[in-house]
Amino acid sequence: MIKIGVLASGRGSNFQSIIDGIKAKEIDGQIVALVVDNPEAGAIERAQANGIPYFIVEKKDCPGKGAMDRRIVEILKGKKVDLVVLAGYMRIVGRELLGKFKGKMINIHPALLPSFPGLEAQKQAFEYGVKVSGCTVHFVDEGTDTGPVIEQTAVYIGDCKDAHEVSERILPYEHKTMRKLVANFSKGRYIVEGRKVRYESGL
Ligand code: GRF
Repeated sequence: MIKIGVLASGRGSNFQSIIDGIKAKEIDGQIVALVVDNPEAGAIERAQANGIPYFIVEKKDCPGKGAMDRRIVEILKGKKVDLVVLAGYMRIVGRELLGKFKGKMINIHPALLPSFPGLEAQKQAFEYGVKVSGCTVHFVDEGTDTGPVIEQTAVYIGDCKDAHEVSERILPYEHKTMRKLVANFSKGRYIVEGRKVRYESGL
């Protein structure tokens, strides 16, 4: 049974996919904390509906460099989190936070990295005109969407009419990929060798 901490900034549908995976007994884990940087985040309602403790950590309440990350570390360490999932978390993770959870922090990105890193990845893919994009779950490192790749799912987007349709097309695959990955983390471990990641089942 792993203890999961989730960081989100928005509607939290990826957060929901982990909740659903736990309910379906695919994930042998418990979400012990949701941390949001935005009091309007839809993810909060999902935490409330599922009895998950949530914490609103706003930049305005944490003046100074690193203060926000230190507060988040306090929360996650206090809950003895084993795995930190960035699920639509729109901030860059600073040294204070990353240093405490390196190798235990994953992010989901709505493109096939290293293509289209950063913001609006779906729009980047649509405007570039690629026929196939998708999503990537990776370990978080010091860079932006540059950590070792854990899993990717390819999605055909060649017939999408706009960036919104690309986002809608990819999103369900993000949920499937996220749910599978967190389930794997709950039943084994991912070994990182350089840029390569391999899975070993059995904790
Ligand atoms: C997802 O597309 C995720 O890949 C990106 O932002 C979106 C968040 O969606 N980082 P949600 O908050 O999980 O619904």
